[in-house]
This record gives sequence, C-alpha cells and structure tokens, in this order.
Amino acid sequence: MARFKHLLSPGRIGSLQLRNRIFMTPMGSNLADEDGITGERIRTYYTERAKGGAALITMGSVSIGYREGSSNWRQEAISDDRHIPGIRALADSVHAHGAKLCVQLHHAGLVAMNDMLDGRPLATPSIPPAGKSGDMMDAFLEDEFHIFTAPHAKMGAIKHQVLTAQEIERLVQMYAAAAERAKRAGVDAVEIHAGHGYIISSFLSPYSNRRTDEYGGSVENRARFLVDIVKGIRAAVGADFPVWARIDSEEFLVDQGITIGDSCRTAQLAEVAGLDAINVSAYSDMANGIGHSVAHATHIPGKFVPNATAIKRAVGIPVITAGRIELDQADRYIAEGRFDFLALGRKLLADPDLARKLADGREDDIRPCIYCYTCISQIYFGRHVRCAVNPEAGFEREREIRPAETKKRIVVIGGGPAGMEAARRLSLKGHSVMLVEQSDRLGGTAQFASIAYEPNQGIVDWLKRQLAQSNVTVKLRTLATPELMCSLKPDEVVVATGAVRTMPDIPGSDRPNVFSGDEMRKLVLGQDLDSLANKVDRQTRWALAAAAMSGVTKDLALIRWASKSWMPLGKRIVIIGSELVALELAEFLAHRGRTVSVVDEVAKFGAGIQIVRRWRVLHEARELGVALLPLARDIRIGEGVVTYVNPHDQVRSITADHVIVAKGAHGNLDLADSLRSAGFSVHTAGDCDGVGYIDGAMSSAAEVAQAL
Ligand SMILES: Cc1cc2nc3c(=O)[nH]c(=O)nc-3n(C[C@H](O)[C@H](O)[C@H](O)COP(=O)(O)O)c2cc1C
Repeated sequence: MARFKHLLSPGRIGSLQLRNRIFMTPMGSNLADEDGITGERIRTYYTERAKGGAALITMGSVSIGYREGSSNWRQEAISDDRHIPGIRALADSVHAHGAKLCVQLHHAGLVAMNDMLDGRPLATPSIPPAGKSGDMMDAFLEDEFHIFTAPHAKMGAIKHQVLTAQEIERLVQMYAAAAERAKRAGVDAVEIHAGHGYIISSFLSPYSNRRTDEYGGSVENRARFLVDIVKGIRAAVGADFPVWARIDSEEFLVDQGITIGDSCRTAQLAEVAGLDAINVSAYSDMANGIGHSVAHATHIPGKFVPNATAIKRAVGIPVITAGRIELDQADRYIAEGRFDFLALGRKLLADPDLARKLADGREDDIRPCIYCYTCISQIYFGRHVRCAVNPEAGFEREREIRPAETKKRIVVIGGGPAGMEAARRLSLKGHSVMLVEQSDRLGGTAQFASIAYEPNQGIVDWLKRQLAQSNVTVKLRTLATPELMCSLKPDEVVVATGAVRTMPDIPGSDRPNVFSGDEMRKLVLGQDLDSLANKVDRQTRWALAAAAMSGVTKDLALIRWASKSWMPLGKRIVIIGSELVALELAEFLAHRGRTVSVVDEVAKFGAGIQIVRRWRVLHEARELGVALLPLARDIRIGEGVVTYVNPHDQVRSITADHVIVAKGAHGNLDLADSLRSAGFSVHTAGDCDGVGYIDGAMSSAAEVAQAL
C-alpha cells in the first residue's frame, strides 16, 4: 500500500533481514509456565503476533539469572539450558509465520521482586538515594492495595548488594551466556534491556549511580557496564549475530536523571562496542503514579520520537523506537530518517494482525487500542497481560473464534459494545445472528463515554464497521418485545442491554438544575429531549433537536468539538460520584472552561479505571483544577449549592449552577429473567450483569460467544 510504503518496506539490522519495519515491542506478559519456562500459552500469544505480519517478535524481559534478578510473577527465563526447548519451540513457531524472534535479556536489579521474596540482596551500583517518595500508593483501592502489598508482607528487610568489579564481571558473563543460549535456541537476535530502572539503567542513571570508581561519574564510566556486556555478548555469539540494546533516552520527572545528551553518548559507546541497533525508550520516576504513563508506556503520542531522532543522528546503526506512535506518522518518520523500525506494544495487543491488515490495505479493520492501560495494570497485581478491546490477548486458545459445530439462530438484544462484540463473534462462528437495538443507533453508553474520552470512539466505530461487513442483521429502533422474540424463534438469546441508572437518594436531586447520568446522555446525544422539559429551556431543546435531526449528535467528534464553544451547562458544576464516568466527565468539563468539583462519600476515587490510567486521570484532574472531595457525608443539593460534611465533621458548601449525579449505575436482569421465564435460552453479556465498562463488555461477550 503506497500510504504505508516505508513502514511496510523490508529492513535490515546487521545480518538480520526483516520483512517490514513493524516489531512487537518487548512486553513482560506473565504468561510463562512455572520456573521461567516458555510454554504453550506464551508461545500461542507470541505466535499470533507473528502470524499477524509483524517482522519481529520480542520476548519481553527474559531473565538471565532466574530466579536471581527476576521481577515478575510468571517471567520467562533464559538462564539455564532447561529454558532452551521452550524458546526453540517458540522460535520455530514464529519462523513458520515468516517473522523473526528476539529475546530481551533482563536483570531487574533494584526492582527484582523475586530477590526480595527469596531474601537475596538487590544488585545495585550504589546504595539508592534516600527520600524518594511519591503518591503512587495513594490511588490504590482497598482490595488492590492488599493484592499489591501481599508479597511485601512475606519479605524481610530489603538488603542491597553494591556490586564489586568482580560481581559486575559475573553479571556480564550471565548476559553473555544467556545470549549464547538464545543463539543456540534458534533465536534471531538479542536485545539487552538497558532501560526502565533495571540493573543496567541504574548504572546509566546519574541519579541512581553514585559510584566513584570507573563505573560511576562520567557518562563513559556509567556506560562501562553496558559496554562490557555488549563486548561479552559479542565474544559469546560472534560478529554476525544481531545484538542491540534498549536504552532510556531520558529520565523524566527525575532530578539528575539521564539526559538526551547522556543517551546519545551511551548509544555511540555501545555502537563502538559492537551493537547492531539501538532501541530508544525512556524512563521516569515511578514513585509517582503519573510516572507510569509518562515513561515507557507513555500516554503522550510520539513522546520519544524527538529523542529517537537525536540518537539516530548520533549513531550510524539503525534506530528502533516505540511510544504511542500512529502508523501514518511512523511511515513519515521512517521516510524522513528519524528512526528505522517501529516497535508496537499496545496496538499489537489490541490487534495482532495489524501489519497484515496494513499490507492488505485493510487499515480500517485494525482494532484500535483505547489507551485504557488494562494491559500494563495487570503487572501490579501479579496477573498476566490482557487487553480491554481484544478479549483474546493472553487468552489465545480459550477465546479463539472457531466455527460452531451446530449453527443456530441467535438474537442479540442491545447494540452497545457487548452486544456488538457478541454478535460479531457469533456471526464469525457461523451462526445466523440478528441484533436488535431500541434506539436509532449503535454504540450504547460507550458513545457517551467516547465524547468524554476520545480513544473510546475508536472501538465503538470499529465494532460498527465490523458489523456492517458481517452477516449480522441489525435492527435499530426495535424493542425486544415478547411478541417479537416469539416471532423470531431464536435458538439462543443474548441479552446485552447495559446498565440502568437509578438516581441515588440525595436530598435535592429532584431540582431542575440536577442531571442524572441518563439525562446527561440524552442531553449530549440529543435523545428523548422532551423528558428534559423541566430542566432545559425550550430554545435549547429545539437547538438540540435540530442538531439531532441533522445527524450532528450522531457525530461524536463533532459533539466533542462543538461542546468546546457551547454546552447547556453553567460555569460551576458539581459532579456527585467517584468512578470512571464521574472523573472522565470532570476532565471533559474542565477542558471546556467549567469549574468542576467532584464529591462522593467513598475514600478513594477512580474505581472502574485501571490503576495506570487512574494515576493519570487523577493527576490530570488536579492539574485542571478539579476539586476532588472524597469522604463527603450527608451530601445535599440546595438552591445553587451542594453541601456536605467533610472528614473533619465540618459542613462545607460548593456553589453549583448545575449538578450531575454520575453514580447509581447497576446491572438489570429483568429482561433476561422474563425471557427465560418465557422459555427462551438466555445468556447475558456486558453491563446488564454488573457494570464492567468496555473491558467487561468485550470479555463477557467473548465468553458468551465461546459457549455457543
Ligand atoms: C503490558 C506491557 C508490558 C511491558 N513490558 C515491558 C518489558 O518487559 N520490557 C520493555 O522494555 N518494555 C516494556 N513495556 C514498554 C513497551 O515496550 C513500550 O515501550 C510501550 O508499551 C510503548 O509502546 P506502545 O505505545 O506501542 O505501547 C511494556 C509495556 C506494556 C504495555
């Protein structure tokens, strides 16, 4: 395809020929078997991405000293010959689909969780500077806090092992031996993980490396450990075997951290030592929650590209980079010589077939990542990787779409993400599927969620496109009455009618300046405006009705854009609630010049948002001046005011032109139950069975489809 000509053109790193410029970036997945063994589960996961057309698959964070220096719950290892058969089987499988396999060699250093658990001292260049504390722990919900801290309860006091020159040499030999093992296992390349706060980057960083010998001080000294490893590996694998390193181009939010000047020099030194390429990443202060989406899994599109460009100018070897880079931009950047290879993480979790679809000219078929951080958040709770929009990620075998043995007539009720995904999957399995939706459009509540958080729109639009191409019959403006269901005579019914929102019992919630979640949705989407007659003046309703008639309110991007100039809401807004919807709405309104306070009785805000994104959302809300007021009791809505009692038993009041009650959503199985009583075989998916947002909708739809 001319449009992605550069991205799809073959490339080369040293002796390694690559079919295009798309790599699967290293991602620790926690999908290995016991004892660091690369087993069937992780093989299937990587093989899917090889099958999907990526040029190279990188096994993320593969331990060189397992369990020594390992950090994850189910981490792959290459520290012993017993790890070779599994990796060889993976290499064979990846090769069978025309891709290459790279192993990322990893030693976790100061964050080697298994060293802490086993009572070993943590390897470090020097005793870590004291006093680094941040807000990371503040955002954990109570149950998450227990899961996160449970391993720590089993640990004794943390000890440090400041590495001597001899111990450094031992580690160099461990890296070299692991690389030689990878070569023996039929792997095509190794990547030295020299970033992200692990052992090598703690030498590279002037913040964590306080040594005064030849491994500390100047950038040349700090890079000596990496240079020694490169030389050690080179000696072990020979001149032709491709070897590269992933480095932090910069440490964000860290005083005295790695600078781009440092990383350019490090890259040059490592090139001279024998590297074939440089993979450009970045790191950040992880004691602060925000650090997790500033650094390697960045929220900021193309964040590392300027640094990759600088490093590319400093070296003569190919440069690989990642970090929320859009495909058309990557194509242009490669054409401009800003970097050579695009490493994709989250986009390949969302759609393993991305490269193949691009090559086939089916860009619109690529299932988009919505940057919800479900994938990386799992790591904090000792779970394996998964993806909110792709239920198969990490469940490649269990949720593989296979033809059904018996083809059935199936009616899916509800056109939100759960209904659309269930219908799509059931149709792909060969069933005859009808989807009925009572409103005039598909998308359900996710449409509304897409206005507040734009990336959500990607998955709603993708599901709509997939349905349009499928054999699913879609009936809009159709109520699933008992008569209709009897006339359709389905073999199976999937109820995916979403959550219902009841107004919580808040004094004053019947005032005309108070909107429930459903009312906000009607207002924004221009639906059922007459029911808002006592809250919205006639002129505004006419304007909204006209917008709805002309189709404007079906265009979510247009609503997002237009709402920047006008919204039928006053300047000062109080949102009552604390979860995903309340916080996304707060951010949306604050961006539109409103003064927003979010108040709720709970202690912690952000339930329903995965931890890595929650850190970000809470940070952004504060940056936008949103007042977050937890532990608020006795909330009452008065005339132009919301009052509550704060944790210090003081009555507080907030002026409010409008109040939005963004809580009270819950499942509702009434329809499912009544259809069951009428004799239908009924299944449920999505929020009607309990609020689970897009992640819950997609995974429950997959489970239902799997069962039929
Ligand atoms: C689930 C997950 C696990 C990750 N694990 C690793 C890892 O083991 N090694 C590494 O170098 N980077 C790791 N990263 C960072 C990615 O390699 C990559 O830099 C990041 O996801 C940005 O690229 P993207 O925007 O294409 O996702 C991880 C990222 C994610 C999302």
